[in-house]
Amino acid sequence: MGRITKLPEDLANQIAAGEVVERPASVIKELVENAIDAEARRITITTEYGGKKLIRVEDDGIGMDPGDARLSLDRHATSKIRRADDLGAIVTLGFRGEALPSMASVSHFRMRTRARGDVSGTEVRVNAGVLESVVEAGGPEGTLVEVGDLFYNLPARRKFLKSDAAESAQISKTVTQLALCYPAVGFTLVNAGRKIVACPPVANISDRLYQLYGERSDLVAVERGSHGVRVHGFIAALAEHGPTRGPQHVFVNRRIVRDKTIAHAIFDAYSVASNKERSPEVHLFLEIPPERVDVNVHPTKAEVRFTEQSLVHEVVRRAVGDALGQGSAPELTLRPSDVMPGRPLPQAIPGVLSGGTYPNRWTSTAGGQSTGVQSAGLQSPEVQDKGGQGTRVPSVSGLRPLIPLGQFRDTFIVAIDDEGIAIIDQHVAHERVLFERIMERLTERPLESQRLLLPLVLELAPAERDALVSRRDALERFGFEIDDFGGDSVRVSAIPALLPREECEAALRSLANDLEGLDRGLDIHEGLKRIAALTACHAAVKANYPLTMEKMAHILEELRATEYSTVCPHGRPVMLRITRREVEKNFERI
Ligand SMILES: Nc1ncnc2c1ncn2[C@@H]1O[C@H](COP(=O)(O)OP(=O)(O)OP(=O)(O)O)[C@@H](O)[C@H]1O
Ligand SMILES: [Mg+2]
Repeated sequence: MGRITKLPEDLANQIAAGEVVERPASVIKELVENAIDAEARRITITTEYGGKKLIRVEDDGIGMDPGDARLSLDRHATSKIRRADDLGAIVTLGFRGEALPSMASVSHFRMRTRARGDVSGTEVRVNAGVLESVVEAGGPEGTLVEVGDLFYNLPARRKFLKSDAAESAQISKTVTQLALCYPAVGFTLVNAGRKIVACPPVANISDRLYQLYGERSDLVAVERGSHGVRVHGFIAALAEHGPTRGPQHVFVNRRIVRDKTIAHAIFDAYSVASNKERSPEVHLFLEIPPERVDVNVHPTKAEVRFTEQSLVHEVVRRAVGDALGQGSAPELTLRPSDVMPGRPLPQAIPGVLSGGTYPNRWTSTAGGQSTGVQSAGLQSPEVQDKGGQGTRVPSVSGLRPLIPLGQFRDTFIVAIDDEGIAIIDQHVAHERVLFERIMERLTERPLESQRLLLPLVLELAPAERDALVSRRDALERFGFEIDDFGGDSVRVSAIPALLPREECEAALRSLANDLEGLDRGLDIHEGLKRIAALTACHAAVKANYPLTMEKMAHILEELRATEYSTVCPHGRPVMLRITRREVEKNFERI
């Protein structure tokens, strides 16, 4: 009895501030988001000493009347949602009513606001969560918020702030991202009297990109919609020389997010298109109906959760893949043959499809517009593109032995059986096969391992190093032998026998990246599956890699034996199928 007391409100706010407000850039993000929710057309951000001394955000939005101005500083006071149902489909950037009271509890806070159409405004001052004054004030319509001496009353937190330069860099990055999302809003960022960002309102994202980054002929446009998910933006084209690196901006419903699923889909699309490991520049925007994405899963709203994760993966991967010109899209269109009107139809040659070569009339169409008579394609089980009235490959038992005819662009195996023609993505198929084999074998004993003559020492980010070292036991079951090598390095002395030596560094880096951030409490099986998927991905034959007939036959045979051969471990389709019926129909034989 008597051990529990309710925390006073200012202390509760300080604790909440620990989650919402990490550093000056996060204060700016919250304030700019408030301005955007308030329909601002122009936002001016001013900072001093990396935002540690002063942050000022001024907008020309709808402002607040005196009552709202006072209330806005109470915890859980918001105009953006009213009932639990609203949480299911949030359309504003804010919704918790926490940002203002949180920042006011850890700073010298001043807000001046005037509602549109009102003759005068209100000024509220709060110091370390204590209301100092509320007075009538002049000033233009809109809102101005100043956050001074962030964390001055929490020295332990203040100590964790980085140098002015580092905080300023983070601020520029945050403002750049916000500016990209909202081209119709003008953004100005001034740091220590210097204009860092100056973007008047423009009509669209490409104009905004031009304002921020100048002429960029090395970027290609992305545009794709499927199942209510739209992906658009600009991404780095494949570099002719060497890998590219650049900022990776991903936005979901115009929110900046970090998302492993999307990052993985991007990585996947690039790795199919090119063997080089890369972290390419991307500015990708996903639009998805609000009820299909939960934004209330992270204290600074930096992460979201999709109800259909694999759909999102698939749409992003295809969007990026298409933009890179690698045609991994499954829509196939069968064009009718160009028979001259009035000429007699050529006689069909029986059996012509069962062997040898034949004229290729299959073309892939971008964006799923079927120009021809029929379109047929295998869709992954989750995704069926709008343009494709495709058929699905029957699973397991239905899969007949396929006879390989050859390889298309050293990337796809073309094969036939009695029921039609199949085009198989060699990398994805092999990956699927290896994944199954690895998972199967793991239940009995560890995978075979190969010692490295020269141990490999990998320099990693601290979190990535931890991710590998803390899962050392699991990795050992795959044949990886890894130990701590001081600092943020790990030493690798053995790798799975099936992994080519030259792939080992890339494989470990993607493993470290994938396992980092993976919930530690995640069940062990899921962890093993992720490792297996990545090992398989790196051990599998690549795109743009010539295969012998034997190897093709081997992959197809193994594929047939896998439990579920039509999608890869990441959910990508393994093959496209053109059924016999479609062929016959288009040749007007039935
Ligand atoms: N710049 C602004 N212009 C007009 N109204 C504002 C502005 N900033 C805040 N408000 C009002 O104050 C309320 C509280 O803002 P606060 O940022 O604390 O919460 P929120 O935006 O509702 O939710 P979240 O905590 O998720 O940001 C908002 O709901 C809004 O009504
Ligand atoms: Mg807010």
